[in-house]
Amino acid sequence: MADYNIRPAAVADAAGMVAVCAEIHPYLVRGEADTRRTIADPPAGEDRAAFVAELDGELAGWVSAYRDVRSAEAGFGKVSLLQVLPGARRKGIGGALLAAAAAHLRAAGIVRAGATATPDGLRFARRHGFEATRELRYSALDLTRFATPHPADPSSTTRRDAQPRSAGSGDARPGDAGPEDAQPGDARLGYPLSRDARPVSTRAGDLRSDGAPAVPVPPGAVRLVSLREVDAEEFYLADAAAAVDEPGDVVPQAPSFASWRYDIWDNPDLDHGLSTVAVVDGSIVSFSLLIRAGTRVWSDMTATVPEHRGRGLALQVKIEALRRAAAVGATTAFTANDESNTPMLAINTRLGYRPVATQYACVADL
Ligand SMILES: CC(C)(COP(=O)(O)OP(=O)(O)OC[C@H]1O[C@@H](n2cnc3c(N)ncnc32)[C@H](O)[C@@H]1OP(=O)(O)O)[C@@H](O)C(=O)NCCC(=O)NCCS
Repeated sequence: MADYNIRPAAVADAAGMVAVCAEIHPYLVRGEADTRRTIADPPAGEDRAAFVAELDGELAGWVSAYRDVRSAEAGFGKVSLLQVLPGARRKGIGGALLAAAAAHLRAAGIVRAGATATPDGLRFARRHGFEATRELRYSALDLTRFATPHPADPSSTTRRDAQPRSAGSGDARPGDAGPEDAQPGDARLGYPLSRDARPVSTRAGDLRSDGAPAVPVPPGAVRLVSLREVDAEEFYLADAAAAVDEPGDVVPQAPSFASWRYDIWDNPDLDHGLSTVAVVDGSIVSFSLLIRAGTRVWSDMTATVPEHRGRGLALQVKIEALRRAAAVGATTAFTANDESNTPMLAINTRLGYRPVATQYACVADL
């Protein structure tokens, strides 16, 4: 007879769920506030549920499951952060949690789901019908030593961070922004950057992802502001525009404003003061979002709208967001990128990020 118990998560489980996650995925930045909120007040239309496993009265693992509102495929969902503490494994708990999550999704009409698995969880995932589709690299940056990166490679480019959105959720939302070139000696990399207008120039011959030459941004044309200083609806439109070409396991679609607002804007762990936005001619053109939990921050998304790519804007906003984080005492920044996102990986390496873990995005029919 099983000596464990599976039940729906309660708000009082939030601290324990965050602790389990910190032990199994120390490179994720999962805030307790957001965990509490998603249990107490789940978003409309996502059919969210979370289940916990108790072993000898202690929380030993958990999973969450929901409809993926960023997928254009009807009936696509996510099994997120299925995890069991090492000391409680091989007792059937992982299988029981997965069964609870899958039953919940099936009851909501969801027929296919994505998940992420660590290398040691891949065998389990395969046994349960998941196929690995993509490799994700998790990286960390020591902010106590964060200094102006030297753009040694003029040909390297940056792209949208391909990180799991809502760091703690393990939901790969891979991105693929156009090239964000940095140039040797470019004042754009001057450190620290001010939040006010800064000159941005573009290397001659710099190409956008569509092959068109990038139009130089006139000196003083870019204003860096915090997320606090921009309008939610305007930011939603910029986020939706920047996400149009995200690669992934399903065709993406922009979530509704209400879903987006819940997921991104109203996330209690998103730091609106550190998250940085580039504004050109009064329009939001690039941004870098940071989730913060204590002294750790997570780059939730860095992206540039397509028509402004190829100008170094993503690099600029990311540096500014990290600089702000370091200034308020954050000591480590984390991010994740799809292994195929060579340009974003190149820029993160140049910023000083070092790989700390690998996970595999997986998909299964339920
Ligand atoms: C993957 C993970 C959730 C599995 O948790 P778990 O509680 O050990 O899962 P189970 O006990 O149901 O199954 C694990 C193995 O134990 C075996 N097992 C189950 N009950 C057993 C028992 N009583 N005695 C011995 N072995 C047992 C299962 O057959 C299974 O074998 P397999 O690895 O060859 O498939 C856990 O390893 C984990 O948290 N990994 C990190 C996160 C991750 O990758 N999650 C996967 C997402 S899809």
